[in-house]
Amino acid sequence: MAGVGHAQSLAARRVLLIVGGGIAAYKSLDLVRRLRERGALVRVVMTAAAKEFVTPLAFVSLANEKVYDDLFSATDEQEMGHIQLSRDADLIVVAPATAHILARAARGLCDDLATTLLLATDKRVLYAPAMNVRMWLHPATQRNVSTLHGDGAWFVGPTVGDMACGEYGPGRMCEPMEIIEAIETALKHDTRLPAPEGLSTHRGALEGLHVVVTSGPTHEPIDPVRYIANRSSGRQGHAIAAAAARAGARVTLISGPVALSDPPGCEVVHIMSARDMLAAVEIALPADIFIAAAAVADWRAEPAADKIKKDQRGAPVLSLVENPDVLATVSHGPKRPRLVVGFAAETSDLIRHAQEKLARKGCDLIVANDVSEGSGVFGGATNEAHLVSRAGVEDWPRLRKEDVAEQLVARLAQMIGEERAP
Ligand code: CTP
Repeated sequence: MAGVGHAQSLAARRVLLIVGGGIAAYKSLDLVRRLRERGALVRVVMTAAAKEFVTPLAFVSLANEKVYDDLFSATDEQEMGHIQLSRDADLIVVAPATAHILARAARGLCDDLATTLLLATDKRVLYAPAMNVRMWLHPATQRNVSTLHGDGAWFVGPTVGDMACGEYGPGRMCEPMEIIEAIETALKHDTRLPAPEGLSTHRGALEGLHVVVTSGPTHEPIDPVRYIANRSSGRQGHAIAAAAARAGARVTLISGPVALSDPPGCEVVHIMSARDMLAAVEIALPADIFIAAAAVADWRAEPAADKIKKDQRGAPVLSLVENPDVLATVSHGPKRPRLVVGFAAETSDLIRHAQEKLARKGCDLIVANDVSEGSGVFGGATNEAHLVSRAGVEDWPRLRKEDVAEQLVARLAQMIGEERAP
């Protein structure tokens, strides 16, 4: 019976299991049993090929739920539409994930219920591949796997071993317990996919507002060929500009040199140095919201007119002068926007430094993040942010930078809304 003798590690978590057509499908029966033992609510979808290996009835008995297999079933669609079926789940698991399913998912094809759910989902998908060694190692399959990785999918396996077809190598589906462990790990994370470009969960929330965002590093010239810089990629600032534009704001993005394309829907001003950034921001004002996500260089050198040559005098000594603080200047200036948001990139005493910056720079919010070595924040795809305001500190889980951007935009819309409320 479900739950007996097992920690309810997956209590009330909703797992949508898509069973593909392969001999490993029989292992998925055991997977359903173990998921239910751990308290998970399991819904099963079978492809037509899966039904050649295991009967739907076997899954019905184990999942204690009807099995879904028909995209065009009028009854199913009336009881539970296919969009709802995919959205209801906390995680979608495809086991076994055949070469054909991976290929269709990577291409975005949706010619049956399983692949339609994979395309309609707003959650991450965990694939447990199972196929012949050569099929797994084929460049086409490897290409599809890497496309799906890029789209935010997770993979467990395949493992190396003897195959049902008599060959040996990678291609065996993981054992149910290994898949369970992967599901438990996956569900400790945020399984929501970031909103795709052009779709905002906060559409219209910043309608009619002007938002100015700084992003990326600045380059401070030493001579015509050398400069001082930092590791900022601009991903977080650009994601915020894109999210604000999706939420309906008019966005001016002032960007230092980055390897990113201009986010859609934003007016982008490209600058190099801190002083150029300040000038561009002052030209862009007035604004309703200012978000300083750039990693502005704190110091600059007095640049030499010609390339500095190696000579007898040894290494040159750079004498540095402090750059203007863009955030503090805007925040204390006559055109101060209604909301001013700063970032704090720290390697120690994160919250204390962030609170101190909030006061010193006169902002309403500081997004604080730990950029110490190993945090992977600078240049990476994710961020573990803490939102520091005068009201207190809010800890956010590790999220993709796009999700941090969406959440920040939601919070700003809420703050503006409170301000607008009578
Ligand atoms: N900032 C800015 N102009 C500068 C330096 C920083 O606008 N010349 C902004 C950043 O965009 C960020 C915030 O100030 O929003 C904090 O940046 P950070 O580098 O963490 O702090 P610093 O002020 O440089 O202080 P320190 O280097 O001492 O930590």
